[in-house]
Amino acid sequence: MTVSSQDVQLVAPPAGSAMWRKDFLFGAATASFQIEGASHVDGRLPSIWDTYCATPGRVHNGDTGEVACDHYHRYAADFATLANLGFGAYRFSIAWPRVMDEHGRPNSRGIDFYKRLLDALDELDIQAYATLYHWDLPQHLQDRGGWLNRDTAQRFADYADLMSRALSGRIKGWMTLNEPWCSAYLGHAEGRHAPGLTSTSYAVEAMHHLLLGHGLAVSALRANDRAAVGLVANVNAVTPASGSEADRTAAARAHASSNLWVLDPLMLGRYPEELGQLWPDARAPIRPGDMEIIQAPLDFLGINYYFRSVVASDGANGFKDAPLANVERTQMGWEVHPDGLRDLLIGFKQRYPELPPIYITENGMASDDRVTDGGVRDEQRMRYIGRHLAAVDQAMRQGVDVRGYFVWSLLDNFEWAYGYEKRFGIVHVDYGTQVRTLKDSAHALKEFLSQRATSA
Ligand code: FCB
Repeated sequence: MTVSSQDVQLVAPPAGSAMWRKDFLFGAATASFQIEGASHVDGRLPSIWDTYCATPGRVHNGDTGEVACDHYHRYAADFATLANLGFGAYRFSIAWPRVMDEHGRPNSRGIDFYKRLLDALDELDIQAYATLYHWDLPQHLQDRGGWLNRDTAQRFADYADLMSRALSGRIKGWMTLNEPWCSAYLGHAEGRHAPGLTSTSYAVEAMHHLLLGHGLAVSALRANDRAAVGLVANVNAVTPASGSEADRTAAARAHASSNLWVLDPLMLGRYPEELGQLWPDARAPIRPGDMEIIQAPLDFLGINYYFRSVVASDGANGFKDAPLANVERTQMGWEVHPDGLRDLLIGFKQRYPELPPIYITENGMASDDRVTDGGVRDEQRMRYIGRHLAAVDQAMRQGVDVRGYFVWSLLDNFEWAYGYEKRFGIVHVDYGTQVRTLKDSAHALKEFLSQRATSA
């Protein structure tokens, strides 16, 4: 496989960018349910995503997480690839149902898997960033109300306590929740994610308990480990479809619900007022002291960014998508809009005086990748990565403190309700044989990282 200088240019940040410095972290990200498989191994309990997958009509093609990328058994080879590509960091998630039983007792066989995984990363000198909750809530907790039950926040803190005792000193950065917006809104209002509920009131309640669980987990993590602690939020750029007052109001509300709903409580200790206009009947179940817990200072904020939404007024309190024609899109149908990432980062710095350093914890795109002649030509992904790195670089030049970038994803994997059809990896996975094939984007990133290692 030869990598042309053109390929490298497509994925590399601009010359002179601080991202060429070795202290800027480059990593790849994954999540437990999407890659591990081994659903019934070593005492793992069912999660809400197992249940959701088993419900007819929920997941494309009836796909499940039973085998996925079989990473549970193939992690050593996958990490050899990660190291060979030159990444200095890896973001993964711990499956809560693997490591704790129904009574909150540790499951040592499940915990040992993560210890083996960390041993392997350590040997390769790859820094470990661990997400505690990437959506695989134990089903037995859902049976008691899941995130609609305030007690789940405390159960989450117990889980954080257990894992930070078990893995103390071995994790570079803890990430409490991945994308609470998706858990709350897609899972409880739209029903497009587990547990598949459909009420905005539920979403508002679930969000509050998720954020409370986050805040409680922060103090548990800090008590047991000196590693950095943060949360990962998905954000998306929002643009009004027209300059009309109604569309601009709709866009402000969409921005509040997509982005500020998570970030305002963390950074300002309050929910954005637009939520009350959007969903007048929904109330967060706030008890005295909750917002102080939620606002616990963080060492970093993880930002996941994929696309922009163009929205118009829905004629009532809300907004509706009014997507533009003739723009570049990915296999997901998501618009490619790197400037949105730059503008959001700059906007967050202006809005939040206490904004901690930022890691881009996910960015990437799906394409309909196929192996031909032993390789995968994914030029759109290369362009996508390079343009987003340039956008992050522009934000850094305007004073935003960004410390690292994790590409989503190392491997093609289980893309939630879309099943295995959408391929986000820089490494292709043949799900029939579990053969991995590096895509061109992986070769180009490797070449960029090796040029970076030898420069300066
Ligand atoms: C994010 C999720 C991640 C992956 C990407 C494409 O919302 O955190 O698991 O599915 O989208």
